[in-house]
Amino acid sequence: MSVKPYVLTDRGIFRYEQVTYPMEERGLQFGDGVYEVVRLYRGTYVWLREHLDRLYRSAAAIRLSVPFGCEELIEQLEELRRLNDVQEDAILYLQMTRGSFPRNHAFPAENRPNLYAYIQPMARKTEEMTHGVRTILTKDVRWEYCYIKSLNLLPNVLAKQEAVERGAFEAILHRDGVVTEGSSSNIFLVKNETVYTHPATARILNGIVRTKVKQFCAELGIPFVEEAFSTNDLREADELFLTSTTSAIIPIIQVDETVIRSGAPGAVTKALQAAYRQATQRETQNI
Ligand code: PDD
Repeated sequence: MSVKPYVLTDRGIFRYEQVTYPMEERGLQFGDGVYEVVRLYRGTYVWLREHLDRLYRSAAAIRLSVPFGCEELIEQLEELRRLNDVQEDAILYLQMTRGSFPRNHAFPAENRPNLYAYIQPMARKTEEMTHGVRTILTKDVRWEYCYIKSLNLLPNVLAKQEAVERGAFEAILHRDGVVTEGSSSNIFLVKNETVYTHPATARILNGIVRTKVKQFCAELGIPFVEEAFSTNDLREADELFLTSTTSAIIPIIQVDETVIRSGAPGAVTKALQAAYRQATQRETQNI
């Protein structure tokens, strides 16, 4: 699963081997930057504009001013896709940092952000989407600005590693028993045919797929309640699922040692997966 040969930087498109990180890159030294992950199905970006809107919002939140417009960036990303002749399912990884300057915590005097973007093939997680996945619970020890898609991911990395070491797909994070989100996903609970998820406060990243699930629920007449739930509620749920750009919608069939209901994906989750398939098919045919 290697990266496609052409990558985009703030200075234009280059071959992958030609691009290196300077040692004084602020993204490396301080995690001083923001990023996005965008899905491609059969070589077409899905919800690209929504992702870029969030990138600009994240940048504004860390007071990073983006020296090029959204339309320009979209053109360059389309060029990146064309040059790489992407036909398969993939992801775009894009990060923007406050640049490379002599090390100093305070902002550099000049506004010269670094941009890096590349495309990497990534298959759909068909197995997980069909059968569901196991999860673990772990403490949410992150900072207060989780709505920013920032490069500071150490707590997320540690939580995911704990999940992997315990044979699980994802770690569900909680603050004093209140479920926030996954280490790299949003978490949803279904009870009496109503979908619950943590409100889009600073405590979570408002996922693009999360906003789509909200729309699908409206279209399907499924009540959607943005209300936090507890780790105890998880165990009593009718269904659980997670969403993210890389994962789409994946049923959760186990939390720690507790098997959720029958241990099989539920009807509401399946209906939302079908709506996701339709919506992404529409997106990739439009372009
Ligand atoms: N994860 N919450 C966190 C902490 C995340 O890192 C992500 C995305 C999400 C879901 O956001 P979206 O639906 O926009 O992808 C929520 C990365 C990008 C991923 O694994 O796809």
